[in-house]
Amino acid sequence: MGTTDEYGMPLDTAPETPNAGPRTVSAVPSSGKPPSPLRDSLFLKACRREPVSRTPIWLMRQAGRYMKEYRSIREKHGFLDLCKDSDLACEVTVYAVQRLGVDAAIIFSDILLILEPMGLHLEYAKGDGPVIHNPVRSVDDVNRLRVVQDSATLQFVFDAIKKTRHSLAPDIPLIGFSGAPFTLASYLVEGHGSRNYIYTKSLMYNNPEAWHALMTKLVDSLVIYLNEQVAAGAQAVQLFDSWVGCLSPHDYREFVLPHTRQIIQRIASGTPVIHFGTGTNTLLELMKEAGGDVIGLDWRVELDSAWKRLGDVAIMGNMDPVALFGSPETIRREAHRILDQAGGRVGHIFNLGHGILPETPVGHVKALVDAVHEGKSRQ
Ligand code: CP3
Repeated sequence: MGTTDEYGMPLDTAPETPNAGPRTVSAVPSSGKPPSPLRDSLFLKACRREPVSRTPIWLMRQAGRYMKEYRSIREKHGFLDLCKDSDLACEVTVYAVQRLGVDAAIIFSDILLILEPMGLHLEYAKGDGPVIHNPVRSVDDVNRLRVVQDSATLQFVFDAIKKTRHSLAPDIPLIGFSGAPFTLASYLVEGHGSRNYIYTKSLMYNNPEAWHALMTKLVDSLVIYLNEQVAAGAQAVQLFDSWVGCLSPHDYREFVLPHTRQIIQRIASGTPVIHFGTGTNTLLELMKEAGGDVIGLDWRVELDSAWKRLGDVAIMGNMDPVALFGSPETIRREAHRILDQAGGRVGHIFNLGHGILPETPVGHVKALVDAVHEGKSRQ
């Protein structure tokens, strides 16, 4: 093994997964396993459904426009430039963790970045969200798409992960991520965000062969991309299937499940996978069938009943991001209501049901983190 930094992380690559032993060992406890602040972190313990002293919390979009420090960086750099500058991406990621005191970091990046090396022209148009100028609509378009085999085209993501891993405290895990194949397909077929997914579903229904070929290209690219993130130093990965809730259970099973399952099965073993979607009330059992150590819930389901339906899996969620516009007192009450629903079961990771909205007061986000840390006193 090469040289290590003060946290025992290798300076070249840092693939600390729950099964990969720690890099520096001082004392070996009687259990036989040497201590590792990362492996023993609240977040990774919860992913593995081990008992924790308190519920860990992190928040989707914890680094973003609701923070004035982020906005001031964005005044000087375009969004894509920010993602591609590994020093800035590291700074933004670490700052959010320190400002909020959350229990995990998520690398600052975007689910759409993988589309560029696949041959798509991606732009974040001011105020309009992402636009893909050459969307995939036909069999020929699918055939033209490149599979990302040479992950060097995304080296800036791996560099950002390495730098972030070295900058974070030793007990704060770093989450890597990608879009899930359906949600990515919805952008690359529509060309932008969508309400009804007319082109996406038309491709699915009218040309299932082209659809499955497209999903297979995405799966093969994403497996390489995610495993490379783990090798660079991510302790867990999240698959964002943000828009999959627009599908019927039948269509999910036929057009999505086999592909998402492929990805999850091919992630380096020992690395927890968080499988997240929104509007998924009718799909939860199928999402669990597709896989994931942790299932992410949005606020449209009751955490308690959803967990009963899902059984033996860890759960992430599920406060409404709009609840953060309430007073700190109502935020606290809502946080405790959700902790109550989890009822002390092992494997709960507190999060919102979707990302923090840009207009959210940062003090309210901090109030939520504090409320979850303080926990719910059990009488
Ligand atoms: O969670 C984090 O803190 C990590 C960073 C992160 C971003 N995007 C940064 C971002 C993550 C995990 C994502 C995932 C992502 N990106 C998803 C899935 C999660 C979700 O929100 O459903 C999706 C669908 C995208 C695609 C995307 N990127 C959209 C639709 C937009 C425009 C909408 C918006 O919020 O502006 C983006 C841009 C984007 N990605 C921003 C950030 C901080 C805002 C860019 C800016 O600074 O103006």
